[in-house]
Amino acid sequence: MAELLVRNARLVNEGREFDADLLVRNGRIDKIAGSIEGVRARLEIDAAGQWLLPGMIDDQVHFRDPGAPHKGSLASESRAAVAGGITSFMDMPNTDPATLTLEALADKKRRAAAVSRANYSFHFGVSNDNLETVAALDPTQVAGVKVFMGASTGNMLVDDPKVLERLFIACPTLLLAHCEHTPSILTNEARWRDRHGDFIPATAHPRIRDAEACYRSSSLAVDMARRFGTRLHVLHLTTARELALFAPGPVADKRITAEACLHHLLFDDSDYVRLGHLIKCNPAIKSRSDRDALRQALADDLIDVIGTDHAPHTLEEKRRVYARAPSGLPLVQHALPAALELVSEGVLSLAQVVRKTSHAVAELFAIRERGFLREGYWADFVLVERLLQPRPVASEPVLAHCGWTPLQHRSFHHAVRTTVVSGQLAWHQGQVQDRCQGLPLLFDR
Ligand code: DOR
Repeated sequence: MAELLVRNARLVNEGREFDADLLVRNGRIDKIAGSIEGVRARLEIDAAGQWLLPGMIDDQVHFRDPGAPHKGSLASESRAAVAGGITSFMDMPNTDPATLTLEALADKKRRAAAVSRANYSFHFGVSNDNLETVAALDPTQVAGVKVFMGASTGNMLVDDPKVLERLFIACPTLLLAHCEHTPSILTNEARWRDRHGDFIPATAHPRIRDAEACYRSSSLAVDMARRFGTRLHVLHLTTARELALFAPGPVADKRITAEACLHHLLFDDSDYVRLGHLIKCNPAIKSRSDRDALRQALADDLIDVIGTDHAPHTLEEKRRVYARAPSGLPLVQHALPAALELVSEGVLSLAQVVRKTSHAVAELFAIRERGFLREGYWADFVLVERLLQPRPVASEPVLAHCGWTPLQHRSFHHAVRTTVVSGQLAWHQGQVQDRCQGLPLLFDR
């Protein structure tokens, strides 16, 4: 017997929209057809009036496992993720210990295999002294290699030009870069400290981590990638100026790609007054015109994918003074509804959101048999309802372990009704389905 038959859905896939039924068998999409008859399934869902979209593949999360269970864990944050329509995630290496060795990588995989509700994979980290391990990585065993070319949470800055050069030459897989120029950030911060002592206002954050710091670092990364032929993916762009570094077009044609994150698409610097350190993140949320330029760059295919950069910290930590309040915000629980606001606002089409959150991510990382609604592929999808009345985020319990969301004053026009991960119900009728177990992502490289 098949596991699941979804009837009467409106599918959005590979640029097309159409009404169909979808059958799941052995974790995979068995059949997509106008009407599927004569088949028995353990569960049938009538999805009339709902969109059926490929689940979001989030290329950047910080789930804090191992090392900071008071902030989050693979178990808690993957539960929040499936509620937000994320079916697969790629976790960053700035855990404790950092993912700088094959042992640390194997440990994270073991942990996820036991508790992750979503499909999972891991980026490998770079330090000043693990280049040999990085160069020898099996590209099928990691999602990518992440380098902090700007300092952020967890002391992983790599700024020695010689190490960077060797990394750009020898990286055996996609190289993901966090780009901010740390020396200019430190100079800016010292200037604000001279004036305000410990009490630097949150509104200073985009002036300390400013557009110049971003450009100096991302232009260096792009220059090096061009020089050495590196397959580079620049993470979380935040400024209009950086966009000139990237070319439009499909992912398949590019050696240098870019990501935008939800908070940089939803907030701007006017939000610091109300939300303070709750929206303190690296790189910083910048001006309204930067935000609008990022949105346009997505529409123009200068920016290829949308991620969350989910980075939970506790409220107690966020309430500290500027220098001691950590950067990062929890976002996975509202990922797809937040991305779909760009559709409601007329910035992107539904097909474009599907491409940036799923198809393009699968192509970029060469993920095997996921990211598209195709017969034979894994059944990773969501049912989404367009609401007549926008729903306040505050009306739902927060699932991230930190217990807060920067979106608490927002309302969204779409709700994720069901999330299916590798053929299993992961989120349904407002509940995480804790029997669901995510699978490791595999890469065709
Ligand atoms: O704001 C951020 N938080 N940016 C990062 O680069 C790291 C992240 C975290 O891990 O907290």
